[in-house]
Amino acid sequence: FDVHSFQHDLITWYSKIKRDLPWRVNQDPYRIWVSEIMLQQTQVDTVIPYFNHFMERYPTVYDLAEADEQDVLKSWEGLGYYSRARNLHTAVKEVVENYGGQVPSDKQELKNLKGIGPYTLGAILSIAFDQPEPAIDGNVMRVMSRVFHIEEDIAKPKTKKLFDDVVREVISHEDPSSFNQGLMELGALICTPQKPKCDQCPVQEHCLAYSYGNQTDLPIKSKK
Ligand code: ADE
Ligand code: SF4
Repeated sequence: FDVHSFQHDLITWYSKIKRDLPWRVNQDPYRIWVSEIMLQQTQVDTVIPYFNHFMERYPTVYDLAEADEQDVLKSWEGLGYYSRARNLHTAVKEVVENYGGQVPSDKQELKNLKGIGPYTLGAILSIAFDQPEPAIDGNVMRVMSRVFHIEEDIAKPKTKKLFDDVVREVISHEDPSSFNQGLMELGALICTPQKPKCDQCPVQEHCLAYSYGNQTDLPIKSKK
């Protein structure tokens, strides 16, 4: 397996097709953070107007930290999963109180903030701070399970660790942000659950499941 060629093919494709999304205009860690929280349970197209409105209303951590919780929840109305908004509000207040308003780039510090789970942690560290940290969601697990022909049950908690290990071995250290977002985008646009568009796939030549012809049998997910 040629890691460098895989990274290059994925990143080159991502650079070509990436959409001008409002959280991609800069690397402001606060904006990346808010976007990743919103994107966790909500589709990109739905998130865009909420994100823009939220950023107009709360352009910095200070604006959000000072806001009334009821107003924050009001801005979240329609996105659902309101604990995301409550946790974000709590965590942003911690950033102002404990870190002088700077979102920490330290993994441990970031991890201790309310509402930042393994996925969000990796997304912020890689996209905002260019650190080679995995950001594993369902799309990424599907792509990875196919490229590397991983047959472990993704419903099992310990399988996450396996995917984390594999991504760590292949992630680009030059551009972890594009690498991770490339995997997400590949899973969203090309390597879809049904009928993956392998004929348009930038990493087809690296994909084990494609060579075996059993793409759609992966990932393996048991019913709990
Ligand atoms: N889904 C989760 N994070 C994303 C991102 N940064 N860009 C597009 N879709 C995403
Ligand atoms: Fe997914 Fe097909 Fe690309 Fe493999 S070749 S990563 S199965 S789209």
